Order: sequence, then C-alpha cells, then structure tokens
Amino acid sequence: MKNIAVIGAGTMGNGIAHVFAQTGFNVRLIDISEESLDKGIATISKNLDRMVAKEKITETDKTNTLAQITLCSDLKEGVAEVDLVVEAATENINLKLKIFKDLDIICPPKTILATNTSSISITQIAAETSRPEKVIGMHFMNPVPIMQLVEIIRGYSTSAETTRTIMALSKTLGKTPTEVNDYPGFVANRILMPMINEAIETLHHGVAGVEEIDTIMKLGMAHPMGPLQLADFIGLDVCLSIMNVLYNGFKNPKYAPSPLVVNMVTAGKLGIKSGEGFYDYSENRKAETVSKQFLTG
Ligand SMILES: NC(=O)c1ccc[n+]([C@@H]2O[C@H](COP(=O)([O-])OP(=O)(O)OC[C@H]3O[C@@H](n4cnc5c(N)ncnc54)[C@H](O)[C@@H]3O)[C@@H](O)[C@H]2O)c1
Repeated sequence: MKNIAVIGAGTMGNGIAHVFAQTGFNVRLIDISEESLDKGIATISKNLDRMVAKEKITETDKTNTLAQITLCSDLKEGVAEVDLVVEAATENINLKLKIFKDLDIICPPKTILATNTSSISITQIAAETSRPEKVIGMHFMNPVPIMQLVEIIRGYSTSAETTRTIMALSKTLGKTPTEVNDYPGFVANRILMPMINEAIETLHHGVAGVEEIDTIMKLGMAHPMGPLQLADFIGLDVCLSIMNVLYNGFKNPKYAPSPLVVNMVTAGKLGIKSGEGFYDYSENRKAETVSKQFLTG
C-alpha cells in the first residue's frame, strides 16, 4: 500500500493524514469545505512544529511529511487511484452511507474502504457497497498522532484478509491495533460514553460542579482528563450521536443521553471546536491548557 485517501479534514481526519504522511504514504486529504482543508493542514503543520520543538523529528522530516499530503475538494479526483480510503467525515449515518455508496462506484475493486466512525455499524455501511468483505472499521483515537490505539472493527462480512491487512498496516503506523466485532459502540465507546453521560447527569442533578466532577475522576481514578473535559475535547455533538447509536442499538434506557447534553448541542455548545462546552474556551486559553495537558500526559 502506498496511496491513501482520507475523507474529512476535521479533528480526526487531519490527524490520520498526519500519521500516514509521516510514515511515508502518499496522502490525499479530501473535504467538501475549503476552510476545513486549510484548517486541517495548518493543524498538521502546528503539530509537526511541536514535535520539532521537542526534538522528536527534524525540520526536514516536517517538510517531507507535509510534501506527502495533497489537499483535494473533489471526492472523485481524490480517491480514483488509492489503495485505501479512510473515511473520517462527520458522524452522520446518512452521510456515511452516501459516501460509501459513491466510493464503491469510484474506487478500483482492490481498494479497501475503512471508516473511522466512532459508533455507526460497519456492517450497515458495508451493505451499501458491492465489496462488503473489503469494508472495515479503523477507529483511531484523538489526538491521532499521540494515541497508541486503533480499534479495528470487523463487520459481519469483513474478510480475514482485509482484517489482516489493516492490522498490519496499523502496526506500520506505529500503532497498536486491537480487533473487535461490530456491535453498537464497539468496545471503546460502549464503555466510555456511558461514563461521560453519567458525568453529565451528575452535573445535571447538581451533585457537583464541572471542576469537582473532573477533579474526582482525574485524581481518584488516575484518568488523564476528567469526563467533562474529555467530552469537550471529543465534541459534544459527536458524543451525543454516539449515545444515540447505543440507545437505539440496544433499546435499553440505560444508554439514554442526558437532556443536558441534548440541550447543549441544540444550543451550539459543542466543546472546544465551538469555543464553549463544559468549559469556556474563549481566547483559546482553556483549549491550550487541555491539549498541552493531554499531549504531555
Ligand atoms: N472527535 C473525536 O474525538 C473522534 C474520535 C474517534 C473517532 N471520531 C470519528 O471520526 C469522524 C470525524 O469526526 P471529527 O471529530 O473529525 O469531526 P469534525 O466535525 O471535526 O470533522 C468532520 C469533517 O468532515 C467534513 N465533511 C462532511 N461531509 C463531508 C463529505 N461529504 N466529504 C468530505 N468531507 C466531509 C467536514 O467538512 C469536516 O471538516 C466521525 O465519524 C467521528 O465519530 C471522532
């Protein structure tokens, strides 16, 4: 494998493009929004600067990594010749089903189609294509250049060969891939999201404030960041959509999203990316604190 396309240049897409490019792959970073593409490449450049400052890579490594990435706003042009597509567009089922339907038509038969979805069924996405054996979940963690895990999700029809290829590829990227089966939330979010939701409900019921809840989970459970801070970091819209997948997938009220997170998302308070969530990120003060703490933690 040499040529990779990443769809979506947002929080996850730019990180995925970064790690592939840094490992020497030719990367096409595709987004419908020019603004996201500009922001995505600026983020990659800033993160590479940080690595240069820490003497983890050289200025030449940075230049070479950036040179491996081509920005693209046209899906057809971006994926025409690639060996692998990693889709990291917005967490919306209809959007993803449409993207995979289009990819199946545009991409050569050899191309493996991976999705970075946090929770949407790989089996359902694969069923939109004529190559369900070549569709797989490749769930990177945020921030991608730092986090070790890639949760590899086998859909009902994903072949053993596709799984082997993607497991090996993830190791090439310096990651630790872990194979799981396709059930709502997979493993990571089936366990993480109920914890975040419970933290939001704890706040909603007035048991304690934001700082108190996060301090208890950080210092008491040795978590690198508190659940509310983590929710801001992930994006409250992303959290809510994962909670809805769990709720609808299991039909169990224990997964019902807190009304507080529903209200916050409706009001456009999405966490770091919108400037406000459980914390105030105006003038980027908190945002800086969060990423610095996380990156060094
Ligand atoms: N945020 C996290 O911590 C996290 C962690 C793991 C997985 N994920 C998953 O990664 C995916 C992306 O999440 P994110 O947080 O990066 O979202 P984001 O909102 O930061 O970025 C999504 C990007 O997709 C682009 N997009 C939307 N429709 C598109 C299309 N048709 N073609 C090309 N680009 C399109 C948007 O313009 C945007 O730039 C989601 O499936 C999410 O569940 C997120």
